[in-house]
Amino acid sequence: MLQTIDLNDPRSRHHYMVAMRVLHELPAFDWYDSHFLAKFEAARRMLEIVNPHRVDAFVGAFASLRTDPGFEVRHVREICDPARFGDLLAQVGAVPKQRLKSYENAEFGRSILHDLPVLDALQRELTPLVSQLAGETVVPCYNFLSLYHGGGRCPPHMDAPSAKWTLDLCLAQSCEWPILFSKVVPWPISGKPPVLPQGAGVSMPDLAFRDHVLHPNEALLFSGSSQWHYRDAIPDGGFCHLAFLHYHPAGCADLVAPARWAERFDLPELAVLDAVFDAVRPAARS
Ligand SMILES: [Fe+2]
Repeated sequence: MLQTIDLNDPRSRHHYMVAMRVLHELPAFDWYDSHFLAKFEAARRMLEIVNPHRVDAFVGAFASLRTDPGFEVRHVREICDPARFGDLLAQVGAVPKQRLKSYENAEFGRSILHDLPVLDALQRELTPLVSQLAGETVVPCYNFLSLYHGGGRCPPHMDAPSAKWTLDLCLAQSCEWPILFSKVVPWPISGKPPVLPQGAGVSMPDLAFRDHVLHPNEALLFSGSSQWHYRDAIPDGGFCHLAFLHYHPAGCADLVAPARWAERFDLPELAVLDAVFDAVRPAARS
């Protein structure tokens, strides 16, 4: 919050002025869930100005949140035994409709609900499997139920690294609905997502998009923070019910939360930047 910045203190006032300049010059990060990377790039630029000898260590500390370029999407054919999966469907089906949130309806054609207890339990239970598939020890982050209806689609985007890993579990669907993933790419430091004419993603050689199809009780593990991903409109205009279980590497809780960077790195200027950022570029509701 801006009110926390003591503008009577010359050092804080200087940091405030630099933060304003950095944010004024920061390019757009024009995709869903880009807030983390925008803050990361803003922090890097601010340190270049006020604390340049700390830049390399700051950037290097995030190495564990970047993804091995050799990673390939993993497909799990049966995520639960049939009885457990049936119970999961029954519990999801019992969620009162009025609890579902509709604020992503316009962009994604979906209703969502975060951190449902039955998904919390499944997410914890699957942590060893995800660690094995990801090739590193992970911990659960958030999860959400995503109920796409006839207008369902997913514009190209990358996730914040709090969701370095996503286990995308299909609960039910009216038809096969491909999801496309690029190869692992370096974190973009600005710009727009790839422009993808509908259905043309698989032919983009530079990003090497590949499509994957899920069926109920199957899941895909991908690295959404380093792989562009998207879905075209649901082919039959029907529905697709998914659960997204997100994980990040163990020991990274401070790194995935920009509000903690100032304390984590003992860089008070980053607290000023975070407060100014949230005032100037508030995050979309998530
Ligand atoms: Fe995503």
